[in-house]
Amino acid sequence: MPLPKAELHLHIEGTLEPELAFALAARNGITLPYADTDELRKAYEFTDLQSFLNLYYGLMAVLRTEDDFADLADAYLARAAAQGVRHAEIFFDPQAHLARGVDIGTVVEGLGRALDRWGSPRSNEAESGGEAAHGISTQLIMCFLRDESAGSALETLEAAKPYLAPGGPIVGVGLDSAEVGHPPAKFREVYEAAAALGLRRVAHAGEEGPPAYVTEALDVLGVERIDHGLRCMEDPELVARLVREQVPLTLCPLSNVRLRAVDVLADHPLPAMLDAGLLCTVNSDDPAYFGGYAGDNFDAVRTALGLSPERLRALARNSFTASFLEHDEERRAR
Ligand code: ADE
Ligand code: ZN
Repeated sequence: MPLPKAELHLHIEGTLEPELAFALAARNGITLPYADTDELRKAYEFTDLQSFLNLYYGLMAVLRTEDDFADLADAYLARAAAQGVRHAEIFFDPQAHLARGVDIGTVVEGLGRALDRWGSPRSNEAESGGEAAHGISTQLIMCFLRDESAGSALETLEAAKPYLAPGGPIVGVGLDSAEVGHPPAKFREVYEAAAALGLRRVAHAGEEGPPAYVTEALDVLGVERIDHGLRCMEDPELVARLVREQVPLTLCPLSNVRLRAVDVLADHPLPAMLDAGLLCTVNSDDPAYFGGYAGDNFDAVRTALGLSPERLRALARNSFTASFLEHDEERRAR
C-alpha cells in the first residue's frame, strides 16, 4: 500500500507520455518530428531547464481539444491514484495553449471532465471491480509564463475570470517557465490582482534562479508556497526565515537530477533541508519527462538518500499540511 500523499507540484502538460502524444497526434492529424515513441524518449536528454522547456512546449502541439485535455488528466490521475496520491494541486500553462490557438475554456473544461470523474470515489470503485478504491480531490493552479510579458499575464488572468469564482476549478496562480532573468517582481501587478480575487499564490523560485528570487516571491508576490526553492540552501538567513515561517517548499527530486540542478540523487540536499527544519514536500513536476510520478519520487529518495520510514511519513504528512485543503477536507483525504 503506497503512503497516502498530496501532490502539490505537477504540471499537467508534463504528464504527456510518448504513447499518448502519438495517439493524440494521430487523432488530430499532426505529424511529430520523431519516428516513434523510442525516438521521442531518446530526446529526453536535458542539459538544463531551457533544454527541457523547448521539448515540453513543442510536444504540446498535440493538445488541441477538450477531449485531449480530458484524456491527459485522466491518464495522470490513474497513475497518481495507483501511487497513493489522494489530493493533487495541478498546474497548467494557459499561455502556452493560447499561443497555439487553444483557448483557456477548452483547457479548463477538458481537464475539468477528468477531475470531476476522479473526484468521486464511486467512479473508480467500479473500475477496480469494487475493491476499496478512493477518489482524488483536485484543484487547478493557473501558471503565468515568466518569460512572457507582465501584460500577457494580466490578459490571461482576465481570460480566466469565468473559472475563478469561489468553488470554481481554479484556486490559485503560479509562475513557471525559464527562471533566470525573469525575477518575480516583474509579476507584482498580476499577483496583486489575483490576491484581490481571493486566489492562492505560489511561484517557482530557486530552481535555477538565485535565493534572492525566493525572497522576492515571498515579499513582492506574497506567495504561500515556493515551488522548488532548492537554492535557498545557499543563504542561511533565508533558510532561517523559511523555517521560522514554515513556508512549504515543493521539491521535485527526480526533476532536479534530470535538469542538472543536482548531479546525482545521492547529492540531493533533501536530508539537510529536513535537518534544518524546512517544511519540505516531494513531488513529480513533469513525470512523463523526468522518470517518475509522485510515488516513484518517494521511492527514489528512500533508496538514494536512505530516508527512514518516519521521514517518509513526515514528508507525506507535510504534503497535506502544505496543501490548500481545508482542515476537514485534509482529514478525509488522508
Ligand atoms: N514548466 C514545467 N516544468 C517546469 C519547471 N520544472 N520549472 C519551470 N517551469 C516549468
Ligand atoms: Zn515545476
